[in-house]
Amino acid sequence: MSILSRREFARQAATFSLATGFGGGFAASSKKKKLVNPAVAVPPPPSITGADSLKAHAEAVGLRVGCAVVPELLDLDGAIGAGTSDRYSQAVAAQADIVVAENAMKWSSLRPSATTYDFSRADKLFTFAGAFGQAVRGHNLCWHEQLPGWFAGFATKGNARELLTEHIRVVAGRYAGRVHSWDVVNEAVNLADGRPDGLRQSPWLELIGPEYLELAFAAAAQADPQAKLTYNDYGIELDTAEQTAKRGQVLMLLRRLHARGVAVQAVGIQSHLQATGPQPGVGLVNFIREVARMGLDVYVTEMDVNTHELDGDAQAQDIAVAEVYRRYLGLVLPEPNVKAVLTWGITDAHSWLNTIQKPWTMRADGTRQRPLPLDDAYEATPAFFAMRSAFDGARQQVVPADITRPNAVPGPVPGVAAPSGEPFAPFAVPGSPEVPPKP
Ligand code: XIL
Repeated sequence: MSILSRREFARQAATFSLATGFGGGFAASSKKKKLVNPAVAVPPPPSITGADSLKAHAEAVGLRVGCAVVPELLDLDGAIGAGTSDRYSQAVAAQADIVVAENAMKWSSLRPSATTYDFSRADKLFTFAGAFGQAVRGHNLCWHEQLPGWFAGFATKGNARELLTEHIRVVAGRYAGRVHSWDVVNEAVNLADGRPDGLRQSPWLELIGPEYLELAFAAAAQADPQAKLTYNDYGIELDTAEQTAKRGQVLMLLRRLHARGVAVQAVGIQSHLQATGPQPGVGLVNFIREVARMGLDVYVTEMDVNTHELDGDAQAQDIAVAEVYRRYLGLVLPEPNVKAVLTWGITDAHSWLNTIQKPWTMRADGTRQRPLPLDDAYEATPAFFAMRSAFDGARQQVVPADITRPNAVPGPVPGVAAPSGEPFAPFAVPGSPEVPPKP
């Protein structure tokens, strides 16, 4: 056994003990040995590491699985050195074969000033990922949110093109060849802004115009020709009128970019889902197939399940959340261009749904959300097991009984008009906006 594999063994054994609570439970039960009736002794929790991890099950069917990571929380020295007892580091190492920085690679983290860069947290993530053989997603190069404080007073129509392309040249250039996929542009579509092309009225749009997207993708392609260049968005998962319309505009945007030869190679579907209300269905499958026809990969980039509107205790949350994971992954994973699933965090202890206090995160009973595969105590949630089972059946056409799924062969879907060959045609589904004028 090599030193590394011995370490790996020790680390995984420690992860098993800590992540499952098995170690603590064992110690406690051995102390009270005489009081325990073996006939009713609680069996140890199931193994969730090594061959039983999310990544082992995903790898077996050619999928990548992983999570958003807060590099500040990682015990890098321990993890790559003598070993770490830090449960967060252990969980990320044990479960993920792809990671993404939750915040550390956004402009606000990387750009302390208009002329400087701070790569410390991003570098830490790359070092950790490198030590554990994990791929890294880059998130993100161009977004309307989390811009640094200096941005508004500094960026002008005169310097914005240079500011954007220089940032991409430096950041994507630094990690060139080490990035699985870059979210080059994040959340560029917002129907509420009322533009015929569906584009969000973002600072980038205002400063540069709609061509900022092409500019960003071109700069990224030049800086890192190996990364899959991705367009990432949210609110495109459901078959509600609103999300159907947004999904249509995203598809039109992709077609416009594609028709102009812009190097978009993948779509990120954020997948911040709700435990209550309408669930994803046939519209999303159609979308995934449409982008497959354009040669694009699809990544589930930020999955979690929000229970802010769900009544009930922790167990009720767990059942509802796991069911959303089961249905959702059962819906999308049979599509062969879906290549990766990332959850937005690995543990409920650090989920943004528990740290951000907003009307759309806070539960009426004041209890914490349970949106991720590991809970606050690093115990596997039912969602963990739902994910693992979904991977096992991933490439089969196994469909939850209550989801109407189009035939495996791409073709007309009842209620959805067939896509035309016209790249600017609307994604012809009820609620789609009008065709935007050709650029
Ligand atoms: C979120 C982070 O999780 C939070 O910590 C931060 O305060 C705000 O951003 N869509 C995205 C992510 O693309 O970058 C967002 O991450 C969640 C929504």
